[in-house]
Amino acid sequence: MLTRRGFAGVGLAAWAGRMLPEAAYAQRAAIQGNLPDDMVWLNANENPDGPPRSSIEAMTKVLAEGGRYHYQEFRAFYETLAHSEDLTPEQILIGAGSSEVLHAAMDAFTSTTCPLITVAPTYEGPVELARRGLGREVLQVPLEPPYAPDVKQLVAQAEKAGGGVIYLCNPNNPTSSITPKKDLAWMIDNLPPKTMVLIDEAYAHFADSPDFESGLAYVRQGKNVIVTRTFSKIYGMAGLRAGFACASPELIARMAPFRNNVISIVTVRAVLAALAESKTLIPERRAKFVRVRRELCEWMRERGVPYIEPQGNFVMIDVGRDAREFISAMPPKGVAVGRPFPPMNNFLRVTIGTDSDMAKFRTVFWGVYKA
Ligand SMILES: Cc1ncc(COP(=O)(O)O)c(C=O)c1O
Repeated sequence: MLTRRGFAGVGLAAWAGRMLPEAAYAQRAAIQGNLPDDMVWLNANENPDGPPRSSIEAMTKVLAEGGRYHYQEFRAFYETLAHSEDLTPEQILIGAGSSEVLHAAMDAFTSTTCPLITVAPTYEGPVELARRGLGREVLQVPLEPPYAPDVKQLVAQAEKAGGGVIYLCNPNNPTSSITPKKDLAWMIDNLPPKTMVLIDEAYAHFADSPDFESGLAYVRQGKNVIVTRTFSKIYGMAGLRAGFACASPELIARMAPFRNNVISIVTVRAVLAALAESKTLIPERRAKFVRVRRELCEWMRERGVPYIEPQGNFVMIDVGRDAREFISAMPPKGVAVGRPFPPMNNFLRVTIGTDSDMAKFRTVFWGVYKA
């Protein structure tokens, strides 16, 4: 069944389209009241480790030079970032978080005749921008267990619409499930005319399934594919605002007029420092997240608590009843989890934090679960 209805919920929808980067802010703002001082924030898929030490040192060093634009450094910055993904500078577009380049893609490629086609539920940023900000038609195919997108349906919708932008978040937020690589390959091989695929890989670094594959290989092959990446998640730089889109030079040139200037030199230096150690930083951080995630899943399995097999830095847990009360019962006990994600009304989304964050989560979760 195809749905044209939104599902943003809890007051987020009205402005999320205009203020994409603030979707995470809304997650936090939704949790108010008398909260404990030692609150554990597991609600916005942030990384508790924050930026690597090398980035903090690089930022500290450049602060006193903040009086200059530093525009002369940007060419080399784009080259370094592009080369880190085996691309050329003409194949990337940098933004204030991946939100900005997702925004540019909606502006450049959706139109009155070119709808956004995606699954539901998925990351609401592009959906809300296309629907409420730009007044575009949004066609959503429901995600059904085991929560892999029905790529045949997505392609059929694009065919019926005479073209469109297929948005796939992989791994998907909020389900933490993936589009298996054979499905991705089939979809890209079978794209109808005037159709492109926008793959949001904000959580790609956390995936360890052999069925997961980045869409970057398709970008390198010159397919009609855009991949977005962010420094907000595994790099721990959500507050620094850096992300980028990867695509053919032609697609990047069409998106570029819709983005806003350059990012801060402080963030540039932080990103460069992190990239210089990414070959060790990423595998180390991934291994840690995968271990903590696996331990949480084992704990739930032992107790018979169902969850969706996760590939992002968050897990969707089936609490077996309307999750809204469950979710609001946790913050007063010191743990904030993700907001409700209708129509998955029995599910709670928890971000993977530190070992001690997760120990506290387990205690508070179990208390509410058994109540
Ligand atoms: C799937 C997905 N894409 C994009 C973003 C935007 O993140 P940022 O703008 O910080 O890169 C988020 C934020 O949580 C997200 O979950």
